Amino acid sequence: IHPASAPAACRRELVDAPFLVAARGGVPRRVPVWFMRQAGRSLPEYRELRAGTGMLAACFDPEMVREITLQPVRRHDVDAAILFSDIVVPLVAAGVDLDIVAGTGPVVAEPIRSAADVAGLPELDAGQVEPVAEAVRLLVAALGETPLIGFAGAPFTLASYLVEGGPSRNHERTKALMYADPGTWHALLDRLADIALTFLRAQVAAGVDAVQLFDSWAGALSPRDYREYVLPHSAKVLGGLADAGVPRTHFGVGTGALLGAMREAGADVVGVDWRTPLDEAARRVEAETGRGGVVVQGNLDPATLFAGDDVVRREATRIVDEGRAAAGHVFNLGHGVLPDTDPDVLTRLVTYLHTLTPGK
Ligand code: CP3
Repeated sequence: IHPASAPAACRRELVDAPFLVAARGGVPRRVPVWFMRQAGRSLPEYRELRAGTGMLAACFDPEMVREITLQPVRRHDVDAAILFSDIVVPLVAAGVDLDIVAGTGPVVAEPIRSAADVAGLPELDAGQVEPVAEAVRLLVAALGETPLIGFAGAPFTLASYLVEGGPSRNHERTKALMYADPGTWHALLDRLADIALTFLRAQVAAGVDAVQLFDSWAGALSPRDYREYVLPHSAKVLGGLADAGVPRTHFGVGTGALLGAMREAGADVVGVDWRTPLDEAARRVEAETGRGGVVVQGNLDPATLFAGDDVVRREATRIVDEGRAAAGHVFNLGHGVLPDTDPDVLTRLVTYLHTLTPGK
């Protein structure tokens, strides 16, 4: 079967891949580790390859996506690759006028603030993200036994960029729309859920082995508001993948008070930032949801990587020990690799983690 038409049932099994074993609640043969933003500006080979090519142009170039995605796998021996892309890629593919400005992030030409704006938001057709699907197929062929993680931005985080028009500290326009016009708000998040789900299903059909839903800015919300205004829409995305046969990770920053709700949205693995110890995170999720079996991902403070190897190892050891309280643990940072990080520190951290005994 040509990979382009391979159904999900033909996905490679990778029964022994530590990342997938841990994500499914089994005991992996080594501590699985990957890093959010492992591809990107911390790598000189990335900066060299990207020179002269815009971020979005790179995301729609399958050969470039393949190469950039593979760079950190070659260099660090991480246990998973994450597709090189961006949360705004499906919006751009659908026809939303936005750009990614270096050092700033996504900037939207015409922010969405009214019911008419929401009605004008285009739908995504899977064919519009065909270059991403092609990149996934190239990667699956190149990666061997290393799993590939696909991802999308969650409806709230996408909405924040669309409503604010760019990155925001306080998300005040977003929250104003949410509180003042809940009908329009829910219509917007419903459309964004459809876009995220179409994007993720295209990645799964092309062969990704796992998915992560990034709700990076959901930590700006109280648990009450998260449950009322956001959870149903993220649940539509994650629930829409329940039959896909791939583990689903749900991550946000500053979400210590939302971890139970984020699991309820349909996550197999809950991503945790550095503010909540993993053992406490596991206890909270299990208490709030009334069920065990949560796998956690995280949660080294990315700034620790600037403090020297002794500190990095001490903190990594603590995190692996705290992770034993959960039904599984995937080592990661609490947020993305900072651009000035010395990549050799990451390589040495992976080597160190692979000497430790994995927990359950
Ligand atoms: O993790 C990986 O290695 C995969 C690549 C990845 C990128 N963006 C590449 C990127 C992933 C998973 C994302 C997701 C993403 N994009 C999120 C969620 C994850 C998170 O960090 O919370 C968010 C909020 C965005 C929006 C966005 N895009 C931001 C905030 C930025 C950074 C702006 C900057 O320049 O500092 C981007 C641009 C971006 N996305 C870059 C990369 C490597 C930098 C652009 C460049 O290298 O020129």
